[in-house]
This record gives sequence, structure tokens and C-alpha cells, in this order.
Amino acid sequence: MRVILALCLALVVLATAHAESDHVKLRRWTRSQYLELSKHFDTIGREEHRERLSKRNNWNCPKIGILSAFAPETLSSLQVMNASGYVRVLETNGRQFFEGTLRGKQVVISTTGVGMSNAAMTTQMVFELYPSIEYLIFSGIAGGVNPALPIGSVTIPKKWSQYQHNKFINNQVDASIIGEDFPNTFYRYNDTDGKTVKVAYMEPSYKNCGNETLTTNLTYPGFAVPMMVDTLVNASDAFASVTPQQFWFPVDEYLLNATERALPKLPNLTATGFDPINQKNFTLPDVPHAQIGEAGLSASTFLDNADLRAQLFGYFKADAVDMESATVMHVCKSNQKKCIVIRSLSDLAGGQEGTNVILTFTSFAAKNSATVLFSILDEMEVW
Ligand SMILES: *[C@@H]1O[C@H](CO)[C@@H](O)[C@H](O)[C@H]1NC(C)=O
Ligand SMILES: *[C@@H]1O[C@H](CO)[C@@H](O)[C@H](O)[C@H]1NC(C)=O
Ligand SMILES: *[C@@H]1O[C@H](CO)[C@@H](O)[C@H](O)[C@H]1NC(C)=O
Ligand SMILES: *[C@@H]1O[C@H](CO)[C@@H](O)[C@H](O)[C@H]1NC(C)=O
Ligand SMILES: *[C@@H]1O[C@H](CO)[C@@H](O)[C@H](O)[C@H]1NC(C)=O
Ligand SMILES: *[C@@H]1O[C@H](CO)[C@@H](O)[C@H](O)[C@H]1NC(C)=O
Ligand SMILES: *[C@@H]1O[C@H](CO)[C@@H](O)[C@H](O)[C@H]1NC(C)=O
Ligand SMILES: *[C@@H]1O[C@H](CO)[C@@H](O)[C@H](O)[C@H]1NC(C)=O
Repeated sequence: MRVILALCLALVVLATAHAESDHVKLRRWTRSQYLELSKHFDTIGREEHRERLSKRNNWNCPKIGILSAFAPETLSSLQVMNASGYVRVLETNGRQFFEGTLRGKQVVISTTGVGMSNAAMTTQMVFELYPSIEYLIFSGIAGGVNPALPIGSVTIPKKWSQYQHNKFINNQVDASIIGEDFPNTFYRYNDTDGKTVKVAYMEPSYKNCGNETLTTNLTYPGFAVPMMVDTLVNASDAFASVTPQQFWFPVDEYLLNATERALPKLPNLTATGFDPINQKNFTLPDVPHAQIGEAGLSASTFLDNADLRAQLFGYFKADAVDMESATVMHVCKSNQKKCIVIRSLSDLAGGQEGTNVILTFTSFAAKNSATVLFSILDEMEVW
């Protein structure tokens, strides 16, 4: 009986292991490393943190926050932080804030969770929990949109946009949408290539656009046209006759300068990595590079579509697309903090042959992003 039971159990385990998705494989692999690391961490809760804050003693007020979207990205920094000394963890609201030292600087590291609302929530939290934070660096992986950049490349875009903060419009000229709230004019054309591609035209000089004029037609395989995002900075901005809005969120100039100084001194990025999905090492044909990019785009949509990828590069000259950065920049603007985003390409956002390779290259790409992060920290005159 026990033998049969054991056999059944073994079969169930085998079947489960076989059915385990690549996503679970990556998370399991990450978790085992995290458990090994976290043995060395001390944990406190919100109450103890409040007390600490009110007394303002016996702890170093960190000036730099470091965020990533999901665990494999955070792991690279945590491993280095663990190796450089004591780590304390504040646990609250289902999140962990790791306090410690990176490259001789007091920092707080946290994982936001994937997607725009998770990223916005955690960015606001890190500013509220650590009022001493002045700088925030987001480090992680992204889908490559610029065809010049292979997997593993790192980009630090100068500006970010929430490109799917959209209005969805009818496929016909509709005068009713031209008004106070929607000052844009859209002309839609029926493309006859049989692919139901529609064209939307955004007037280059529409009201509220400030100096950020869009000088090109935006083509979407549908009806979505980007809108600007309300950006509340001053107390009564919500009641302003024209709510402050912007399309692009530029990164901080001090941090961009630090990046410019860091890049020439950067150690070579690695072309070699471990693929936790297929449990084997790989070496990519080209050594990846890091560069400052023109633009990046974010939305709570995982992009794996060659046509939209090509359009996003064509119209926005974007290097990368992800699911967090632009909302992090938005929160930074309202909090008046200095922020920058480092993204390493784990996949080509649909530009690949066959299936998306993100899970194979997540951990590898995250390491290259962390390499650039460490070099930028070295260039900051902040402790
Ligand atoms: C974490 O740091 C501790 C203390 O320096 C060290 O003993 C341990 O090996 C480190 N763990 C990992 C996984 O790097
Ligand atoms: C495009 O225009 C033609 C001719 O007016 C029409 O038959 C067709 O349904 C239109 N296609 C779309 C996708 O609107
Ligand atoms: C717009 O451009 C003008 C002239 O170049 C400049 O003076 C102004 O500061 C700019 N405004 C914004 C919001 O960037
Ligand atoms: C946008 O598309 C329309 C229709 O094809 C064309 O007339 C116009 O010149 C285009 N504008 C730009 C800025 O490319
Ligand atoms: C906030 O208000 C102050 C004072 O009116 C003004 O100088 C400043 O430009 C405003 N900031 C923004 C971002 O609107
Ligand atoms: C960034 O570098 C430029 C060029 O060296 C310099 O003019 C500017 O003042 C720097 N900005 C900051 C915020 O350090
Ligand atoms: C980086 O790579 C280049 C050529 O690929 C090589 O010449 C150089 O020595 C490498 N630098 C370091 C620090 O490994
Ligand atoms: C991958 O490479 C590392 C470092 O070179 C090595 O220690 C490890 O055994 C290799 N793993 C596999 C599965 O080949």
C-alpha cells in the first residue's frame, strides 16, 4: 500500500514537474536564491519603522531608492547588497524594502510588482516611507523596440511616455469629439491593404501640447490614439483652468549626467548567461552595449507584436517598451524627485522569430542592467 501510494505520489510529482510553466520555473529558481540570501536579513514591520522615523536616530537616512518590477531583477542588486554588509528589510503592504549599502551608498531596494499600478503604488510608498530619498533609479528588463539593439543591450532613455494612455476613437470623422475636452482633431483613413489598418492623425499643434508637438501621423492597428497624462504637482493643479498635462516625462538631468560619465568607464557587459528555463549556459554572438536612448514607452500591456513594435520605433524612436517606467517617472514628477530608468533587453517585443524569449533571458538581462546601475551609483556624489 505504502509503495503504491509512494508510486502515485511520485507520478503526480513527475506530472506536475512536467506541466510546470516556464514562468514557474523562473520564479522557482529565483526563489531558491532569495531564500539563501534572506537568511542573513533582519526584518522589521511598519510600527517599528514609524518609531524609527519619529526618533530619526540609529539609522542612516538613505538618499537613493532602487526599484525593479519583479524578483529576478531585484535579485542581482540584492546579492551585491548582501555581499556589501548588513541588510534590514521593512515589510509592509505586501512589499519588502531592503535597506543596505550598494557601492558605498545607503540605498533602499524594492520590488514593485509588474504593471503600471503596482509600479506607481510602490514608487509613492518608497517616497513616503523614506522621506530622505532624493534620487530614484529603476533598473530592469524590457522589450527591445530599436532594431539596432540586440538582446542584452542596455538603454537609458532620456524620456518616457505612457503610450497607451489612450482614447479609442471611431473609424470615421466625428466632429463631436472635437471640443473642449478633446482638442485634438482626428482624420481617419481607410487603408485598403486588407489588414484593417486604420490611420489616426493628431494635429501637430493641438492645444495643451505645449512645446511637445507631434509632427508625424500616428498609425495604430486599431483606433487608439495617445492622450497626455494629467500631472498634478502643485496643490490646486486639479482645479486649474488647464490641468497640467504632459506626454513625455524627461529623466533627471543630474542622473543623466552621471550616466554619461559612467558609460565610458563601464565594465564590458556580459554576453554569457545561464538560462534557468532550459538549465544551460549560453553565449550570445555579440557583446551587448549600453547607451543613452532617445525614448522609452510603458503601458500595462505586454508587447509581443512585430507590427506595433515597428510603429513604436518609427513614430517615437523608442529603444524599449516596458510595463512600469513611465508611471514611475510620473510619480517622480508629482513628488519632485530625481529619477532615471535603466532597461536591459530581455526580448524583442514581438520582433523575434517564433516565440518570445523573455524568460530565458530575464536573469541575464537583469544582470547587465545591474552592472550599469552600479556604475551610475559610482558617479553620484551622494551618500
Ligand atoms: C550573504 O552575505 C553573508 C554575509 O556576508 C554571506 O555569508 C552569504 O554567503 C551571502 N549570501 C549569498 C547568497 O551571497
Ligand atoms: C473601407 O472602405 C470600403 C469602401 O468604402 C468599405 O467597403 C470597407 O468596409 C472599409 N473598410 C473598413 C475597415 O472600414
Ligand atoms: C517652450 O519653448 C519656449 C521657447 O523655446 C521656452 O521659452 C519655454 O520655456 C518652453 N516651455 C516649456 C514648458 O518647455
Ligand atoms: C498624415 O497623413 C495624411 C494622410 O495620409 C497626410 O496628408 C499628411 O501629410 C500626414 N502628415 C504627416 C505629418 O505626415
Ligand atoms: C507651482 O506653483 C508655483 C507657485 O505658483 C509655480 O512657481 C510653479 O511653477 C508651479 N509648478 C508647477 C510644476 O506647475
Ligand atoms: C549636466 O551637464 C551639463 C553639461 O555638462 C551641465 O551644463 C549641467 O549643468 C549638468 N546638470 C546637472 C543638473 O548637473
Ligand atoms: C572589453 O572588450 C574589449 C573588446 O571586446 C576588450 O578589448 C577589452 O579588453 C574588454 N575590457 C575589459 C575591461 O574586459
Ligand atoms: C554554467 O557556467 C558556470 C560558470 O562558468 C558553471 O559554473 C556552471 O556549471 C555552468 N552550468 C551549466 C549547466 O553548464
